[in-house]
Amino acid sequence: MSAPKSLRYHVGPGGALVGRLRVPGDKSISHRVVMLGALASGDSHATGFLQSEDTRATIAAFRAMGVVIDADGPGEVRIQGVGMHGLRAATRPLDLGNSGTSARLLCGLLAGQDFASDLTGDRSLTRRPMLRVVEPLRTMGARIDTSDAGTLPLHIDGSPLHGIDYRLPVASAQLKSCLLLAGLYADGETVIHEHTTTRDHTERMLAACGWPLRRNDSGSLHIRAGGELQPFDLEVPADISSAAFYLVGASLAPGSDVLLESVGINPTRAAVIDILKMMGADIVVDNRRELAGEPVADLHVRYAPLQGVSIPEALVPIAIDEFPAILVAAAIAEGTTELRGAAELRVKESDRIQTVADGLATLGIDTQVLEDGLIVHGGRLNGGHINSHGDHRIAMAFAMAALVAAGPVEIDDCANVATSFPGFVDAARGLGLDIREVH
Ligand code: S3P
Repeated sequence: MSAPKSLRYHVGPGGALVGRLRVPGDKSISHRVVMLGALASGDSHATGFLQSEDTRATIAAFRAMGVVIDADGPGEVRIQGVGMHGLRAATRPLDLGNSGTSARLLCGLLAGQDFASDLTGDRSLTRRPMLRVVEPLRTMGARIDTSDAGTLPLHIDGSPLHGIDYRLPVASAQLKSCLLLAGLYADGETVIHEHTTTRDHTERMLAACGWPLRRNDSGSLHIRAGGELQPFDLEVPADISSAAFYLVGASLAPGSDVLLESVGINPTRAAVIDILKMMGADIVVDNRRELAGEPVADLHVRYAPLQGVSIPEALVPIAIDEFPAILVAAAIAEGTTELRGAAELRVKESDRIQTVADGLATLGIDTQVLEDGLIVHGGRLNGGHINSHGDHRIAMAFAMAALVAAGPVEIDDCANVATSFPGFVDAARGLGLDIREVH
C-alpha cells in the first residue's frame, strides 16, 4: 500500500510564497465521511473530499466489506450506504497502509460486527500502539488479538459489546472515536470522559447524521446503539493540517502573501493559528462560515518576524499534527521556543520529537530533546540533507525551511506525502517554492 521509498525533494534556498490556494480536503473528516457514509441508510455524497493514500485505504477497506463507493471524480465521493448491519466479512486482511486513523477507528467499528476481520498496515503503522484502543474495547466485550508488541496485525473476532464508562488515559481523538463507533453497537450506554479536548469531527458528523449523542455539562459523551444514520451531502473543508505548511512558509519568508481558502478552523483543531500568532505571525482569519457542520474561513498570511514562545500545554492536542511545521517556524524565530506535554508526538508516523530535532540539527539549529517535547533555540538555517523517515509532515515542514536556508535542502523518503497531500509539490511550486522531485 505505501508508495516507493526513493522519492526525494530538492528544495532551492530563498524565495517567497505568493498567491492563493485551496489545500486538499480535511483528512480526518474525509475518513469519517467514508465510515459513516458506509453505515448510513442510503446514498451519501461529498465534495472537497481528500483523495489520498490514507483515505484510499479506508475506501478499500469498506469496498472489501461490500460497500459500493465511487471516488473517481476529483474531490468527490459517492457512497451507497449499507445500513448499520449491512457490512460483510472481507475475504482478506484489510491493509490500512500508513493510516492510524483508519486502523484505530475501524477497530472500534468492527469489534461489534457479527463477522471476523483482520487489520494490517505498512512498516510505520505496524509499529504504532494499538493497545490504547484494544484494552477498552476488550472491557466492552471485544475479542481482539494483537501482535506480542500490542500492534497490528490485529484479528478481531466480532462479538456482542456492552457499554462502558471510560476516562481516556491519553488525549486521542482516534481513541475517543474508536469507542464512539463501538458504542454504536454496544448494549446500554457508552460514556466517555476526556480531560483534554481533542478533535470532535466524529461527534459533529454523528450529529449531522441524526444519531443521538449527548454531551453533558462536564463534557462527557454519552452514546447508545439503536437507530439509523441518515445519509448526507456535504462539502469537506480544506485541511488545516495541510494549510499549516503554508502558514509557516509564508510567515518565514520575507515578501510572502498567501490566501488559503475554505480552511477548517474547528476550535478543536486550529491552535496552530493561535501558536503562530503568539510567535508574531500575521494571520488574518476572514470570511468565516460553516461547511458540513464545521467552521471554515479563509486564512490570509503575510511574512512577519517571529519570536520564540513557551507553547501552552492546553494547546498541544489542538495542534498535534502541526508541530513539525511549528517547530520549523521556531527554528528561525528569535529566542527560544519550548514545547512540553507532547509525548504523543513520539508515536505518530515517526517519532516526531526526534525526527524534527535531527532535521534541525542538520540545518545547524540547536535543540534540547525532552521526553515529552523539544526546546528549540532559534538561529540561522544552513542547507542540508534531511531524512523524513517516511513521515509526510516531516517532509513538508522541512521543505518550507528551505525558504530561509542558506543552501538547498534535500529531503529523503518523501513518497508518503501522498498519504495526506497529493499535489503538495505542484501547489508549493505554484506559490513560489523552488521544489522539485528527484526519483
Ligand atoms: C486524528 C487524530 C489524531 C491525529 C491524526 C488524526 C483523527 O491522532 O494525530 O492525524 O482523525 O482522529 P490521535 O488521536 O492519536 O492524537
